[in-house]
Amino acid sequence: MLTTEINRKPTSDDFDPLRMVPYGYDDTDYGTPARVSGQSVTLTIDGREVTVPAGTSVMRAAAQAGINVPKLCATESLEAFGSCRLCLVEIEGKDGRRYKGYPASCTTPAEEGMKVSTQTPKLQDLRRGVMELYISDHPLDCLTCPANGDCELQDMAGVVGLRDVRYGYAGENHLQDKKDESNPYFTYDPSKCIVCNRCVRACEETQGTFALTISGRGFDSRVSAGQDQPFMESECVSCGACVAACPTSTLQEKSIIQWGVPEHTAVTTCAYCGVGCAFKAELKGTQVIRMVPYKDGGANEGHACIKGRFAWGYATHKDRVLKPMVREQISDPWREVSWDEAIGYAARRFRELQVKYGRDSIGGITSSRCTNEETYLVQKLVRAAFNNNNVDTCARVCHSPTGYGLKQTLGESAGTQTFNSVDHCDVMVVIGANPTEGHPVFASRMKRRLRQGAKLIVIDPRRIELVDGVHVKADYHLQLKPGTNVAVIASMAHVIVTEGLLNTAFVAARCEEKAFTQWRDFVARPENSPEAMQLHSGVPAELVRGAARLYATGGNAAIYYGLGVTEHAQGSTMVMGIANLAMATGNVGREGVGVNPLRGQNNVQGSCDMGSFPHELPGYRHISDTTARSLFEQAWGVELQHEPGLRIPNMFDAALSGSFKGLYCQGEDIVQSDPDTQHVASALSAMECIVVQDIFLNETAKYAHVFLPGSSFLEKDGTFTNAERRISRVRKVMDPLPGLADWEVTVELANALGYPMHYAHPAEIMSEIAALTPTFHGVTFEKLDRLGSIQWPCNEKAPDGTPIMHVDEFVRGKGKFFITKYVPSDEKVTRKFPLLLTTGRVLSQYNVGAQTRRTENVQFYDEDRLEIHPHDAEERGIRDGDWVGIESRAGQTVLRADVTERVAPGVVYTTFHFPESGANVITTDSSDWATNCPEYKVTAVQVMPVAQPSEWQRTYQDFNQTQERLYEQRQATGAAMTAK
Ligand code: SF4
Ligand code: SF4
Ligand code: SF4
Ligand code: FES
Repeated sequence: MLTTEINRKPTSDDFDPLRMVPYGYDDTDYGTPARVSGQSVTLTIDGREVTVPAGTSVMRAAAQAGINVPKLCATESLEAFGSCRLCLVEIEGKDGRRYKGYPASCTTPAEEGMKVSTQTPKLQDLRRGVMELYISDHPLDCLTCPANGDCELQDMAGVVGLRDVRYGYAGENHLQDKKDESNPYFTYDPSKCIVCNRCVRACEETQGTFALTISGRGFDSRVSAGQDQPFMESECVSCGACVAACPTSTLQEKSIIQWGVPEHTAVTTCAYCGVGCAFKAELKGTQVIRMVPYKDGGANEGHACIKGRFAWGYATHKDRVLKPMVREQISDPWREVSWDEAIGYAARRFRELQVKYGRDSIGGITSSRCTNEETYLVQKLVRAAFNNNNVDTCARVCHSPTGYGLKQTLGESAGTQTFNSVDHCDVMVVIGANPTEGHPVFASRMKRRLRQGAKLIVIDPRRIELVDGVHVKADYHLQLKPGTNVAVIASMAHVIVTEGLLNTAFVAARCEEKAFTQWRDFVARPENSPEAMQLHSGVPAELVRGAARLYATGGNAAIYYGLGVTEHAQGSTMVMGIANLAMATGNVGREGVGVNPLRGQNNVQGSCDMGSFPHELPGYRHISDTTARSLFEQAWGVELQHEPGLRIPNMFDAALSGSFKGLYCQGEDIVQSDPDTQHVASALSAMECIVVQDIFLNETAKYAHVFLPGSSFLEKDGTFTNAERRISRVRKVMDPLPGLADWEVTVELANALGYPMHYAHPAEIMSEIAALTPTFHGVTFEKLDRLGSIQWPCNEKAPDGTPIMHVDEFVRGKGKFFITKYVPSDEKVTRKFPLLLTTGRVLSQYNVGAQTRRTENVQFYDEDRLEIHPHDAEERGIRDGDWVGIESRAGQTVLRADVTERVAPGVVYTTFHFPESGANVITTDSSDWATNCPEYKVTAVQVMPVAQPSEWQRTYQDFNQTQERLYEQRQATGAAMTAK
């Protein structure tokens, strides 16, 4: 494939905006995986001397010397299999003796002093013979095959000089075998299969799903999904690893069948989850043809999930709103206007509101889906142009307790490790996270390590896949009642302290003594014992004791956690409890250990880093810190307010009490994603100017007065920061469909407000961020091009970044233990509400679903359902698939029931991907004591069979239809046609 570069004018001196791939970009398939070894061996291949790490295959050593040995069953991402016999070589050992026969170079390790010949007449003959056999049973339709030009079988026929097939083409073949087109994203055409096993191995080794087998024998052997099922009916999770591994067009992307082979490549970053996978966006012109995970991507190393690899079609979906729109009232039809008019209108309305209701009557919300640069600009606009600190972010409702809890204990609001650190982990603790659904590429890596023998403790109210998956079983599943995390972590700490399992040397050297002693004495109290806490958590004491012993004594132990930790009334307490446990056992500051928050959206870490919280400037410096504030005042040329501004829930309350009137909301759908939907909707209805910037007319936009069309990740330059603090480039592969990228819109809005902003390119915004943020001092776009990605802190002390934090000392100096007293949630089961509702997500959908609902992913999951245990279902006369009403003190909604033992009796569960489900109509205003992160994971509810939608759903349907009509009736003004 050709790597070309899209023609754009350079706009900044410090990097080359024409560059679409990192320096050192390498697409070569070296045939077998790289080896890491302290020893190296030197051998000679076709007269060229090459030195490689011990354990490297002869094939890879040859490729490193620039010699490509023909291959079919080998590929760099998989362990060698040695089945096709195309890679045969002749070898003479150090002692001058010739190796017996013709060894396969993919399975033969390179050895010191070897002399290898890859091209001899005998080898040519043998390879030609192999190819003849393959081709005699292969449809000869290369010219019309979708893989024409991108097929390894075709390439190898050329490489070995195949001119004739002695066996003819008329023998027995597989041309009549039926294609499987069930998967929306790829096809399986068995007639083209060469039974190389690459797909089977990819599904096992890379993905860890084990969905494929080779069925039949000899000539009849073929790949089959599940029990000879269509792909869509098998266990396949559509990660696409098998498709990428297939050397022919047997497994082929439907996009390639439709568009043909791509022409050029740009390396960019997935815009979905916090894993932050790097992708090669393969294009024809500006048409994306395929997203291929980039093998040198630091977070994913060549793997991907269904969302990143296949679900990108939303970017050009017909629902995209491409023209700016305004309206006086939300009952008016929209008017399409020019960018100038929309931005001028928004600025005028904001200023009028400030004159009428005061400086603090307006605010802004940044998005964890937008780039660092965009997020930075929105908070800058609020602080400098609105001149207040009323800025908050959607991370408020997910990981704000992580920021608070880790800052207090360890000194930095971020995870401690790289993803690949899990390869050195002996005991994994997964708390309130469901990696196979939420962070699938990292889950594959975890599963690989578990298959190698690492132990697993799962702390979760549900039986998530990791508890009892294929070739993966949890050693302990602490199936606690929702809302009792702190009870469990405190009782684990009790076991570690009272059974003498503390790492006293680590604690003495690295932690504050007084705080530790207080914590130790506190957790040792009898009320924190597993036996006492069992009454709250429902987890048998002996399981907690066993898990605590395993964590403390099983070798390198790492904790991975998700929103099941943070989205609780005691979210911040639990984060501190996790950090306490890691410090107490010395599991911080090296490979294989640590405290690792799994971030939900792509840029949750980045939006927090960029100063999106009302009390913190970029780099987590408190707004009341005079030194930090004056640094920004000087750079921004404006005096900043020193009091923290309003958090999102405070904005809603202030709107309802009449003091908060205007909101700039970029890339965030608060109506669908925030708790207590009816409260949010009332607050928005009370405001006078809501400006929404998004790619779709989302639920929040239905309450808006100004709509500014957003741009997708394919349409802009910038950076995202993933859960490992890894800053990666987002590269623009097409011009913004609405004419302006999101960062340009914020710049225009600031200028219209009378606060000048001038940036020619996001690289210049990053330069400003780096100048003002100590942990980003060394970050530039040029360095990102050079290194591929950078994990912050990146500064004078760590010019290439920091993969592992707190190595010799904690960022705050000494680690600090905090007392974590279990306080039962206010959300308690009662006779009226006897069940506890908890929420989560599924693999194929993403967050509020705005993107994934507009892709073929709806074929995998097209409605939110309520999981209920058979016992609770039977008690209520509910059968699988029945409509059920769910009622909490906040509201009611109706979903279909999924009767399953994944949830324990007394617990129900749902997802929140579809607006009409109204999952957040049920969730309440209960929130974390420190950060106001909503308690999504615990809501007391009743569930009953019903025959009709809830009242809220009927009201929503009417409102939605009205808003869709007002959008369809939008009037295009003449000015709207003159896009900027
Ligand atoms: S798409 Fe992924 S899960 Fe499905 S068969 Fe292929 S490798 Fe396995
Ligand atoms: S489907 Fe492709 S990868 Fe799998 S065995 Fe057949 S040719 Fe090989
Ligand atoms: S794991 Fe996350 S970042 Fe990676 S491809 Fe999937 S959604 Fe994208
Ligand atoms: S590539 Fe080595 S045997 Fe197939």
